[in-house]
Amino acid sequence: MPIIAPSLLASDFLHLEKECQMLNESKADWFHLDVMDGRFVPNISFGMSVITQLRKMTTKFFDVHLMIVEPEKYVEEFKEAGANSLTVHLEACPHLHRNIQQIQSLGMKAGVAINPATPVFLLQDIIRDVDMVLVMSVNPGFGGQSFIPHSLAKIAELKALIKNTASSAKIEVDGGISLDNAAEILQAGADILVAGSSVFKSENPLETIEKMKNL
Ligand code: DX5
Ligand code: ZN
Repeated sequence: MPIIAPSLLASDFLHLEKECQMLNESKADWFHLDVMDGRFVPNISFGMSVITQLRKMTTKFFDVHLMIVEPEKYVEEFKEAGANSLTVHLEACPHLHRNIQQIQSLGMKAGVAINPATPVFLLQDIIRDVDMVLVMSVNPGFGGQSFIPHSLAKIAELKALIKNTASSAKIEVDGGISLDNAAEILQAGADILVAGSSVFKSENPLETIEKMKNL
C-alpha cells in the first residue's frame, strides 16, 4: 500500500486545528509540510513556528519539504519543531552529501528532491545515502498545478537506478496528483504520494485519502 502524504499547503490556514483533526482521523500516514523561502522558489509559505504548533495536534509523521537555499542553517530548528524527515533540493545544495549526513545525524530521515528539469542520473552518487527521493511532478512553489506527464518516465528511471545500486531509497512524488492519475504514478514505481488540492479541495477529503490509499 502506498504512503499518502496530504500537503498542508492546500489546507485552510484559518482552521489548521480542524484540518489536523481531519487528517488524524484519516488513513493518511504522513503530513507533508512545504517550507518556501521566496528565494529558491518564487513564493513564501510557513516555517518552524507553524510546524511547532502543528506538532501539538498530531503524532503523525512530519515530512518536511524544504524549498529553501542554505537548508543547513535550519536543520536543528526543524528537528526541534518536530520534523521526522527533511527533504532538501539537489538544485539548492552544492554540498548535498554533507546536508544529508547532517539531517541523519540528528535522527531524521533525509530526502533529496529534484525539479522537473533535473535529470535522474544526477542522483547516481547520492542514491545509496538518502532515505528517499522526491520527484517534483510540477515546478515547485505553488499548489494546484497540473502533473507533468514526463515525470512518469523519471519515476521509472529512478526505480531502475535504485534497483541497480541496491539502494533502499523510497520514491516520493509531489505535485498535481489526484485520484485520476495516482494509479499510473504508483505503477511507475512511486512509494509515497503527496496530494494537496486533490485532498483539501475535494468534497470528502477522508474518502479521497482512503481511495488513494487503496489504489
Ligand atoms: C509544490 C509543493 C507541493 C504542493 C502540491 O511546490 O511542493 O507539495 O503542495 O500541491 P498539489 O497537490 O495541489 O499539486
Ligand atoms: Zn511539497
